[in-house]
Amino acid sequence: MSPAFSESPLRRTIRSRKSVLPDWDTMYRMGTPPWEAPGPAKELVRILDEGLLKPCRVLEIGCGTGADAVLLAKRGFEVTAVESSPIALERARHRAQRTGALIRFVLDDIYSFGRHCGPFELVYDNGFYHYARLADLDKFLDLLWRVTEPGSYYLTLAGAPDPSIQDGLPQVSEQTIRLELGRLFQCVQIRPCRLQTFHRPEGYPAWACLMQRPKIQP
Ligand SMILES: C[S@@+](CC[C@H](N)C(=O)[O-])C[C@H]1O[C@@H](n2cnc3c(N)ncnc32)[C@H](O)[C@@H]1O
Repeated sequence: MSPAFSESPLRRTIRSRKSVLPDWDTMYRMGTPPWEAPGPAKELVRILDEGLLKPCRVLEIGCGTGADAVLLAKRGFEVTAVESSPIALERARHRAQRTGALIRFVLDDIYSFGRHCGPFELVYDNGFYHYARLADLDKFLDLLWRVTEPGSYYLTLAGAPDPSIQDGLPQVSEQTIRLELGRLFQCVQIRPCRLQTFHRPEGYPAWACLMQRPKIQP
């Protein structure tokens, strides 16, 4: 078998574009993208079950096909879910309709959206930060600054280092997360977890990082 066939579609797309980012919409059109999970992230369920986050206005960045957005809406959050892939957003809308979840879906580039919307009490992404940091960390931090306010929370699920996995999610160390996101936020909790996907039911090693923008001292 030639090396090209042994590579994942994700890696092939990254290579052919000579970019650090996948061609998101194409990957959704090809079927089930390698990051897609069979349901909401178990780690998000845990965080909500533990009551670490109370229902509030939440922005989900890159909601994909909407499993986590639906969970948040069902748990009483007022969800704005932004996604740049039309096909993913279409699937997310169908999922919300099927389950009766009320969600404000926005088809837009999050960086454009962030210029005129917000602030939100909670910003959430499952798998966005670990890509965005590779493309342009400053731009991503600027976005987070715009869509939050002092006291807002930011929760990200991001791939953790595992030398035995060559072809999966981007990997970022705990120390790097603390350095990068520490420019804006105080760390509330960083926990190891696993991110399941259809292609890898046992999951990828990951971090659940809950951060908070410092409140302004009077
Ligand atoms: C790694 S996927 C994660 C999707 C979803 N959160 C999940 O867990 O299945 C990243 C998502 O961000 C979306 N995305 C990428 N760049 C974007 C941008 N600039 N604005 C909005 N969405 C974007 C992609 O289309 C994709 O759905």
